Amino acid sequence: MKKIVVFNHKMSLLYDELYNYIERTNNIDTDNDIIICPSNIYLEAFINNSQWSIGCQNFNQNTDFKHTGEISTDQLKSLGIEYSLIGHYERIRDFKESAITINDKLIAALDSNIFPILCFGEDIDENYREELPKQLDKYLKDVQNIEFIIFAYEPIYAIGTGTLPNKEKIKEIITFIKEYLEEKFKTKPRILYGGSVDSGNIEDILNIDIVDGILLGDLSSNIKEVERIINKI
Ligand code: 13P
Repeated sequence: MKKIVVFNHKMSLLYDELYNYIERTNNIDTDNDIIICPSNIYLEAFINNSQWSIGCQNFNQNTDFKHTGEISTDQLKSLGIEYSLIGHYERIRDFKESAITINDKLIAALDSNIFPILCFGEDIDENYREELPKQLDKYLKDVQNIEFIIFAYEPIYAIGTGTLPNKEKIKEIITFIKEYLEEKFKTKPRILYGGSVDSGNIEDILNIDIVDGILLGDLSSNIKEVERIINKI
């Protein structure tokens, strides 16, 4: 089965590394669906030169006002951007992005035919059976066309820490979420796992048949690790 691999570059890659990265990744052969989410300043370079699909890391959902320093869905669409991360924990923590904003962004992206990659996850001291349905209910309120959303389960304590749940736990939680979304929202979701994935653990994670792919952060701009990771899928 084809897997989805999303690379979230965050603030990585300097300009003098950019074209080497694009060239090296263009030499990687894979049948899987790869989506790169680079910094906004590199979106055009990736769109014009990369063999893979391109997503953005964030956009402004507002269509009524023009905001300084922001990017609209219309601009993304005009460049050919197909995907966007939404609801990443770092935006909730650092920019105080609320569930209402995440809900608005989902609606704005889907209205513009941009596929959302919706991040969600619980922290170490939270009960996932209580926390995850709460998050998903708020994020998905009044959202149409939920089948176009790619879900990305990222436990907060696993983001950038090297500490991740074991594969039994990942399987248990993703099974729970799939059942919840199927039952409540009548959708058969694709769900990725994200948080401290690397070339050493990716096979274990992707061997869990219900995991549809991975979302990779810090290592996704490390070209050697990207080559190793894709070769293992
Ligand atoms: P790491 O892969 O660095 O843990 O980050 C996960 C993440 O934030 C992907 O969006």
